[in-house]
Amino acid sequence: MKFMKIAVFILLCCLSSKSVLSSPGRYNAIFNFGNSLSDTGNFLLTGALALPGVKNLPYGETFFHHATGRCSDGRLIIDFIAEAFGLPYLPPYLAVAKGPPIRTGVNFAVVGATALDPSFFSAQEIALWTNDSLSVQLGWFQNMKSSLCTTKRECEEYFKKSLFLVGEIGGNDYIFPFLSGRTVEQLRPLVPQIVGAITRATSMLIEEGAVDLLVPGQFPVGCSALFLTLFQSPNVSAYDPTTGCLKAYNALFQYHDNYLQQELQKLREEYPHARIMYADYYGASVPIYRTPKEYGFYGGALRACCGGGGPYNLNNSARCGDPGSTVCKDPSAFVDWDGIHLTESAYHLIAKGLLYGGFTSPPLLL
Ligand SMILES: *[C@@H]1O[C@H](CO)[C@@H](O)[C@H](O)[C@H]1NC(C)=O
Ligand SMILES: *[C@@H]1O[C@H](CO)[C@@H](O)[C@H](O)[C@H]1NC(C)=O
Ligand SMILES: *[C@@H]1O[C@H](CO)[C@@H](O)[C@H](O)[C@H]1NC(C)=O
Repeated sequence: MKFMKIAVFILLCCLSSKSVLSSPGRYNAIFNFGNSLSDTGNFLLTGALALPGVKNLPYGETFFHHATGRCSDGRLIIDFIAEAFGLPYLPPYLAVAKGPPIRTGVNFAVVGATALDPSFFSAQEIALWTNDSLSVQLGWFQNMKSSLCTTKRECEEYFKKSLFLVGEIGGNDYIFPFLSGRTVEQLRPLVPQIVGAITRATSMLIEEGAVDLLVPGQFPVGCSALFLTLFQSPNVSAYDPTTGCLKAYNALFQYHDNYLQQELQKLREEYPHARIMYADYYGASVPIYRTPKEYGFYGGALRACCGGGGPYNLNNSARCGDPGSTVCKDPSAFVDWDGIHLTESAYHLIAKGLLYGGFTSPPLLL
């Protein structure tokens, strides 16, 4: 009897503990490309002109206790992934580019970055926040490569033990056009082009020696306080009754995800030696939007913790951190941090879904 109790205790303790489910030593480095969902400081180092709020508290208040350039109150999905593999938080490329080589991974993501080149948007008079698009970030990676390895064989050996995160990227390729007045119908035909930029980056990295790559899909941005405020509709059938999110926008992001998965399947056939994982950000977050209180989000999923008022606490003339904005007492009770980015506790839950909950395929943790 006593033995049984101990056995059950050991089982419960160890199944739920990080030590067994995490995988320290599996990778020697993580390289990340992306936007504000994973930027750990590059945009801040470029001046953060388009989002000055990110330079100061309350950004960073929960975990780092100062602003780091992360668009949240604390850690991002990339930070939880680094933790799971026993690696340090990724330094932003722009902070380390001129220093000694960093052998445990570097972050190339920049707030506002697009998968397509900025010229595509400027030709249509669509304003962007940064010109450090995916191809600029890939160029930074290539610049840095010679400091990490020299011969082809040495690079192969090193990158074989690295994890490459290609995104999330592409969300801004829809968001900025939406903010400039484009409609879902106008943007749907762009999906193959945007996905094409992501899969080209993925194959380029494989050609450079990457073997393990994680390629995330989109979040349901139609659930963000920003979209719910700017694109509100008097028509109740514009909203998903199970979440309160805007259906047409989310349908576009799901179409992107389906298209991306088809294209990744083609890449897997082209590069059978590579392990190309798809991360289902959408699927991992939908349960939270359906029943936020079940996950401890007592403030609900749609109202931003930090903002300048209104039904979703989103006011474009008083964004999070601006004069006139306020921040909630307990960010862990909120999903939405500043109207478009999520809180640390939402990112933590989603990261657990990716690592342990079956939302990456093939699985990130073996
Ligand atoms: C991007 O580059 C264009 C052309 O050089 C420039 O006009 C624009 O100000 C730049 N945008 C940002 C956000 O730096
Ligand atoms: C409301 O939206 C639905 C679907 O989005 C559409 O079929 C319907 O025509 C709309 N009704 C009005 C009054 O706009
Ligand atoms: C939005 O912010 C501006 C500037 O602080 C303020 O004047 C306005 O009343 C706010 N609007 C709402 C709906 O709270």
